[in-house]
Amino acid sequence: MHIIPVNGPSPYEVTIGTDLSESIVERAASIGAAKVAIIHQPPLLAAAHALAAAAEKRGVEATLAEVPDAEAAKQLDVLAHLWDVLGQAGFSRRDAVIGLGGGAVTDLAGFAAATWMRGIPVIQAPTTLLAMVDAAVGGKTGINTSAGKNLVGAFHEPDSVFVDLERLRTLPDDEIVAGSAEIIKTGFIHDPVIIEHYIKNPALCLDPDGILPELIERSIAVKAHVVGQDLKESGLRETLNYGHTFGHAVERRERYIWRHGRAVAVGMMFIAHLSHARGLISADLVQTHREILESVGLPTTYEQGHFEDLVEGMRHDKKNRGGHIRFVALTGIGETTRIEDATDDDLRAAYTKLSA
Ligand code: GLY
Repeated sequence: MHIIPVNGPSPYEVTIGTDLSESIVERAASIGAAKVAIIHQPPLLAAAHALAAAAEKRGVEATLAEVPDAEAAKQLDVLAHLWDVLGQAGFSRRDAVIGLGGGAVTDLAGFAAATWMRGIPVIQAPTTLLAMVDAAVGGKTGINTSAGKNLVGAFHEPDSVFVDLERLRTLPDDEIVAGSAEIIKTGFIHDPVIIEHYIKNPALCLDPDGILPELIERSIAVKAHVVGQDLKESGLRETLNYGHTFGHAVERRERYIWRHGRAVAVGMMFIAHLSHARGLISADLVQTHREILESVGLPTTYEQGHFEDLVEGMRHDKKNRGGHIRFVALTGIGETTRIEDATDDDLRAAYTKLSA
C-alpha cells in the first residue's frame, strides 16, 4: 500500500493498493460517520454491495445510490435524487458520501457532499484510470448544465481517496489508453521520469502488471503537489490544463463522443506545434510528443477544415482572461509557461500541422 499526502487547506491522503473496501470503511468509521451513501454506476453494483457489506460489518449503515453511466450522471435531476436519498436516510454533517466510479461519479458525489448541509465528507474511490490520476484528486466537483460542462460546481476536497489497482484489470483497453493521456500530461508538465518510461517501454506503460501502477503513483504525486499548493487555480494548478485548451474545443466539436484523453492528446500536439513555432520548444520535443502519444495508441492528428469552429470552442475556455485565448505551454519537459498572445495566423499554422 502506498500513501500520497495532499497538502492544502484540508490535507488528506491518497491510498494506492488493492482490496481497499475495509480501509475505506475503516476511514469512514474513524471520522465518525454512522452512515455512508455509496454513489455508483450500474456496472459497479457488485462492488457497491461488497463495500456496503463491509460497512455494515463495521457497524456503519450503508445506502446505495445508483446513478447513470458517464456524463449522464452529472445532471441536476440526478443530483436532486441524491439529495432526496441523503434526506430520506437522515444524513447528518458527520456522515459521509462515497464516490465509487469514474470521473463523472467522483465529480457528482463530490458536489452532492459539498452541497448537503453545506458540506459533508466525501471519500473518493475512483475506478477508471482517468478518475484515479485526475478527477478524484484535487477537490473539483460539479455538474453540467445547459450553459456548459462543469460551470456549476464547488471546490470540495475529499476526506480521502482510495485507488484500488485491481480495478485496472476490469477496464477496456481504450479506457487505459485514454487515461494514459493525463499521465503523459503530468509527465510533460512536471515529471521527466514519466516521459522516459513512455519512451523506453510504451507497452509496459499500459500494463497493470508492468509500469502502469508506478506511473499512476507518479502522476497522482504530480497532481498532489500541484493542488496542494494551489487548490483554487490561481496559478500553478492551471498547468494541469496542458493540452486541454484545444482538447476541450475538440471535445465540444465532437459533441463529447470522443474520450477526454483522446482530445487531450490532440490538444497536446496542437500546443507542441504552436510552442515550437514560437521558439519555445525544439522540433525534437514536438517529435517526442508525437512518438509517445502514438506509441500508446493516442491520436496526434485532427481533421482539417474546422478552424473557425475550434477557435470558437477555445474562446469559450473558462481559463481565458481579457478576451485572449490562454494556453499552458512548455519550454522543456517539466518547465511550463503561458501563451496569451497567439494570433489567428499562429493558431491556423498549428492547426494545419495536425493534418494527417
Ligand atoms: N483536471 C484539472 C484539475 O483538476 O485542475
